[in-house]
Amino acid sequence: MRFLGAIGALAIIFAILTGVYFLGGFYNVAAAVDEAAPVKWALMETRRASIARHEDHAKPPFALDDQTVIQQGARNFATAGCVNCHGAPGAKWAKFSEGLNPDPPDLKDVAKGASAGRIFWVIKNGIRMTGMPSFEKAGLTDDEIWHIAAFVKAIPKVSEADYRTWTAAPNP
Ligand code: HEC
Repeated sequence: MRFLGAIGALAIIFAILTGVYFLGGFYNVAAAVDEAAPVKWALMETRRASIARHEDHAKPPFALDDQTVIQQGARNFATAGCVNCHGAPGAKWAKFSEGLNPDPPDLKDVAKGASAGRIFWVIKNGIRMTGMPSFEKAGLTDDEIWHIAAFVKAIPKVSEADYRTWTAAPNP
């Protein structure tokens, strides 16, 4: 009985200390400061597992390796503002994105490891508490997002010249 009482008392003390730590403002939310390694690991694994559980298994409404789809995706990518954070072939990200924590990943690397369905889900829903916006909330349709997912999958093979031509403003 005494043992259980001690555990209960410890649990109450722990709850109070946790409350003081977080609600008392001791936890530092500054983007300029990195989380402790175990916290960073836990947050990354939480995001990875959450995306894996939620990612769409919906079939894309058109073939994602079609050149016209990829080129339309490049234009959507440019106008939606992805370049500001992630950059694009031959286009540098905006300086401010270097202040984001976590860092926006290089989409060339993402494209190699992630399915189109996963990429679609991330663009559509965003990732809370990272800076990655939900583009459905920002007004893009599923079709527009599938085009972007097709482009992201193709990024490792898109040359700087291709990207420049595809996203150049049409002649009036
Ligand atoms: C304001 C900055 C910002 C903008 C704009 C932005 N992203 Fe991101 N994006 C991020 C950040 C930060 C992450 C990293 C999240 C993480 O570490 O889990 C990310 C992650 C991703 C990922 C990887 C998710 C994964 O599988 O781990 C993809 C794919 C992605 N973004 C695509 C896009 C596309 C496409 C657009 C435009 C439609 C876009 N992003 C616009 C900041 C941004």
